[in-house]
Amino acid sequence: MEIIILPTPAEVGRVAAAKIASIVADKPTAVIGLATGSSPQGIYQDLQRRIAAGEISFAQARGFALDEYVGIPLDHPESYASVIARDVVGPLGFDASRVRVPDGRATDIEFAAKEYDAAIRAAGGIDVQILGIGANGHIGFNEPTSSFASRTRIKTLAPSTREANARFFDSLDQVPTHCMTQGLGTILEARQLVLVAQGSTKAAAVAAAVEGPLSSFVPGSALQLHQHATVVVDEAAAADLQLGDYYRYTYEHKPEWQRFE
Ligand code: GLP
Repeated sequence: MEIIILPTPAEVGRVAAAKIASIVADKPTAVIGLATGSSPQGIYQDLQRRIAAGEISFAQARGFALDEYVGIPLDHPESYASVIARDVVGPLGFDASRVRVPDGRATDIEFAAKEYDAAIRAAGGIDVQILGIGANGHIGFNEPTSSFASRTRIKTLAPSTREANARFFDSLDQVPTHCMTQGLGTILEARQLVLVAQGSTKAAAVAAAVEGPLSSFVPGSALQLHQHATVVVDEAAAADLQLGDYYRYTYEHKPEWQRFE
């Protein structure tokens, strides 16, 4: 795992975006795993800058969202289908027909979940999966005790996740209780993972995921099983890391040929 500690949230967005951009530059038809939430917003903003500069284009790329709420209409402004359309598809110039979000409204949720995993496989697999992390260590909506082997499926949101996401809704009551999320096993099949975290509220989760024992109690620790995971955090989110100085030293001494920015 590569851990990159940067001074500011803006730098986190810039460096994580450089990683995504290098993949799309090499392979314009790349399949991108798209995350919602506040954490990846800096990535999307920096990618827009690169698009405007003519460095990259997502016109031929494909996208698969990580997760979706179950129990709110498709056109609800906070459905992840709406959020992905508003924050990612439009601004990055994806072809909307090449971007999918799990169908949280399906009458047969189990079938829809299996079909989603099958569609990812049929697209050739995800080249790079963008991830944030919840304060309780969740990735996607894989709450604590999610199996490392889990596939896309319905999950019950942890009360703390509902509270954290209440800021996007008028009241806590309106936050759905369930979701459909790519499983940890699904996420681990992506060729590369890029997890970003900013701010002190993520410090404990980042340390547990990166340096703690492999445990389904901390779903983010699944990244330790991946061959090519990059974790990009600001100083506040890095505060609980025991080997912070080593990660800074490693990044400073990274061989030129390994650099992606
Ligand atoms: C959300 C999403 C995750 C996200 C996490 C952190 O509920 N389902 O994909 O990474 O929780 O959210 P944020 O980035 O807003 O802190």
